[in-house]
Amino acid sequence: MTVQVAVLASGRGSNFKAIADAIGAGRCDAEIKVLITNNPDAPAIQIARDGGIPVEIVERKKFKARDDMDDAILAILQRHGAKLVVLAGYMLILKGKKLLGAYRNRIINIHPALLPAFPGATAQKDAFDYGVKVSGVTIHLVDETLDAGPILYQEAVDISDCRSAEETAAKILKVEHSAYAKVVDSFSKGHYTVEGRRATYVRD
Ligand code: GAR
Repeated sequence: MTVQVAVLASGRGSNFKAIADAIGAGRCDAEIKVLITNNPDAPAIQIARDGGIPVEIVERKKFKARDDMDDAILAILQRHGAKLVVLAGYMLILKGKKLLGAYRNRIINIHPALLPAFPGATAQKDAFDYGVKVSGVTIHLVDETLDAGPILYQEAVDISDCRSAEETAAKILKVEHSAYAKVVDSFSKGHYTVEGRRATYVRD
């Protein structure tokens, strides 16, 4: 069954666009109900407008506490009927207990490295600087931990031929785009259960 999605993005929005394009091409059985961003200047906003997707801007400075901000995001998710929350370059950590509880095992994030290697905001540069020959993409559930929720999907990327952090990021990004649409699509046909650290896909 088509899964109703909310995308959270802070910047460029290329993963958001890749998912929207995959939906358009019939490769991903999902409907994007809303784009939520904390950044009023995010290029992702124009991508949403071009695709006729509603945009909600939720700025950090408008809220005293992070919990209040995440409560506002939760209200938007519920108002738009989102069943799956897709973080696509959303550069704030979701902290709201109510939000994390309401969407338990239904918030996913993409990270441009093979976790648990290279967590954080500069994963591609960290992998390049370290000199690893293989890095990749991780898609994981979001919980109270930082970049450490149960892993749903990983794909390795050979970066041995990359000559800079930028080349590394570009090579990984291509794989992000195909991988994220595949994982979003998987939610239209099933869900994930979690035991300890291990997520298992269950077909509905
Ligand atoms: C992507 O490479 C994503 O994996 C990364 O930010 C980029 C967003 O690009 N996320 C993180 O590093 C999260 N720790 P996009 O806005 O073009 O999708």
